[in-house]
Amino acid sequence: MLQTDKSSVIHLNDHLVIHSFVILFADQQSEIRLGKRVFIGDYSTIRTSRAKVSIGDNTMIAQNVKLIATNHYYKRKDQLIHQQDIDTEKIGITIGNDCWIGAGAIVLPGVTVGNGAVVGGNAVVTKDVPEYAVVVGNPAKIIRYRE
Ligand SMILES: CC(C)(COP(=O)(O)OP(=O)(O)OC[C@H]1O[C@@H](n2cnc3c(N)ncnc32)[C@H](O)[C@@H]1OP(=O)(O)O)[C@@H](O)C(=O)NCCC(=O)NCCS
Repeated sequence: MLQTDKSSVIHLNDHLVIHSFVILFADQQSEIRLGKRVFIGDYSTIRTSRAKVSIGDNTMIAQNVKLIATNHYYKRKDQLIHQQDIDTEKIGITIGNDCWIGAGAIVLPGVTVGNGAVVGGNAVVTKDVPEYAVVVGNPAKIIRYRE
């Protein structure tokens, strides 16, 4: 399912493969940009409000992956969380070319996954991943680099 409001845009590209029950959601001046030959597996979600999510060419997103591009501020306890603004420091997601994001992984706002990186199944990616690194776990840590 593709869902946008009038201020947002989803750019699809050549040879895109999107499997069943994938949700691409962009609102409030957001942008989702998918590169060439991107694959997205069943039940994955890309969700952004007021932020950009970019996925490079030849990148595979497995099943049940969640790319969540926006955080709420939450630190003030005298305001409801939904009344606080979004976190403008940790915002947006960039995933490079030739990456592989394993099934069930979650990529959090503000993260860049470098070209050629691999994210293990069920990883929770809280920080940037260097190019060609392989990360696993929660929070995701580097276990090796591709050769
Ligand atoms: C990340 C991954 C690619 C690494 O594979 P690998 O290079 O063969 O890694 P290994 O099996 O040698 O594991 C290396 C270490 O990382 C650990 N590890 C591997 N994958 C892990 C994961 N997803 N979560 C937590 N730990 C993991 C292993 O237990 C091992 O730990 P140890 O050194 O303490 O024994 C793979 O484990 C993975 O998660 N694949 C995702 C599969 C998938 O989602 N497929 C969808 C179809 S597109």
